[in-house]
Amino acid sequence: MMAGNWKMYKTPAETKAFFDKFVPLVASSSHCEIVICPSFVNLETAIAATSGTNVGIGAQNLYWAKEGAFTGEISGPMIKSTGASYVIVGHSERRQFFGETDATVLKRTIAALEAALTPIVCVGELLAERESGSTAAVLSRQFQDGIAGLTDEQFSKIIIAYEPVWAIGTGKVATPEMAADAHRMIRAEIQSKFGAAAQSTRILYGGSVKPDNIKGLMAQPEIDGGLVGGASLDPVSFASLVNF
Ligand code: PGA
Repeated sequence: MMAGNWKMYKTPAETKAFFDKFVPLVASSSHCEIVICPSFVNLETAIAATSGTNVGIGAQNLYWAKEGAFTGEISGPMIKSTGASYVIVGHSERRQFFGETDATVLKRTIAALEAALTPIVCVGELLAERESGSTAAVLSRQFQDGIAGLTDEQFSKIIIAYEPVWAIGTGKVATPEMAADAHRMIRAEIQSKFGAAAQSTRILYGGSVKPDNIKGLMAQPEIDGGLVGGASLDPVSFASLVNF
């Protein structure tokens, strides 16, 4: 899977212009699932622009209640009603700036599954955690407190994204070996809780993925795709990642 996370960029008009260029560039690409996650206000435009194509659309967050007095929030069923099929959960920017915890990541993941959306659940360590040698412990805690609470059936439907926080938007990509190591740690956690599902779960790498570093990352058998921020905003650059 190659998934684009547009974060808080683009208007509906810019969204339409992106897909006018992007859709033809990936029309014959059948080797991976292609997903773009625009902001909520662009979902309708994105769905209309990709209807009948091989490009899937997702949101970047959801609230866990189905509806209610939660000003400013958007629920899984609301996202589903736009025609979107995916949702990013627990992105490090949500954890860092909006108080997201492993416990709320679990609630949102379950809410996404209940709305028949495929959650792309993000994990990853901070720079200080990597430098102090606690990457494995952080990934383990994020898994145990956030993902291990799913049933086997729920777990079989999620996608995991490993995004080292120090590599997001910084231009500092993890080396392919570092990324592969972290993916192995996550797969070992999955194995201990969900057994054989560890082999079939897709784990994406995210953090400064660009056309000039995609080759080394995708050469790692542990890495099953990418979650791409900055380089997904430009149709030519994201198409070149998809078509690598
Ligand atoms: P980046 O963002 O590719 O701009 O580093 C990745 C992400 O936050 O998903």
